[in-house]
Amino acid sequence: MEPKPVKVSAVDNHTYKVFPNDLNSYGTAFGGMIMAICDRTALVVAERHSKRTCVTASVDSMHFLQPAGQGDILLFSAAINRTWRTSMEIGVKVVAEHYETGVKRHILSAYFTFIAIDENKHPTEVPPVIPETPIEKTRYEEANDRRERRKKEAEERKLKRAAAR
Ligand SMILES: CC(C)(COP(=O)(O)OP(=O)(O)OC[C@H]1O[C@@H](n2cnc3c(N)ncnc32)[C@H](O)[C@@H]1OP(=O)(O)O)[C@@H](O)C(=O)NCCC(=O)NCCS
Repeated sequence: MEPKPVKVSAVDNHTYKVFPNDLNSYGTAFGGMIMAICDRTALVVAERHSKRTCVTASVDSMHFLQPAGQGDILLFSAAINRTWRTSMEIGVKVVAEHYETGVKRHILSAYFTFIAIDENKHPTEVPPVIPETPIEKTRYEEANDRRERRKKEAEERKLKRAAAR
């Protein structure tokens, strides 16, 4: 399959304005709403890259670093870090921009793994990715370590469950 550069599928600064109905009981932007937009944004990257329907397999290292408030403008950016046979890791970053001051704060980062699915609903191959910039190359290298960690944890969970039966 023809390899594709990261920039072909990346999403930069997709905006979402936080309204009162987006707040939690604490008066800050509801985390579940932000997570859903992250998932959608990452999905767009995965489907643009693979040209297939994709499903979320896992999310890791999702950290809410700071709260976002009413009136903030949320900026969602996502890019493909690495692909394997049928899976792709997409990194997502969310920044909150204050509508009056323009001050920007990094509020969330996470890694999503998507699987490309064929017409028979089976995992199917995806094109390799070409990391071009220094940061894309770093993310590409680091993604392999995360994949190994995910696989190891999944294996450990399986063994623990089997032992508990
Ligand atoms: C994701 C899913 C398709 C994988 O199916 P599966 O039968 O485990 O498929 P396989 O074992 O052949 O693995 C396929 C790929 O998924 C990856 N994978 C499976 N489980 C994973 C997990 N928990 N995290 C990351 N990757 C995972 C495998 O590493 C493999 O990647 P590779 O081909 O690049 O090496 C299946 O578990 C599923 O349908 N899950 C539900 C998805 C869903 O409903 N998401 C929410 C709504 S979109």
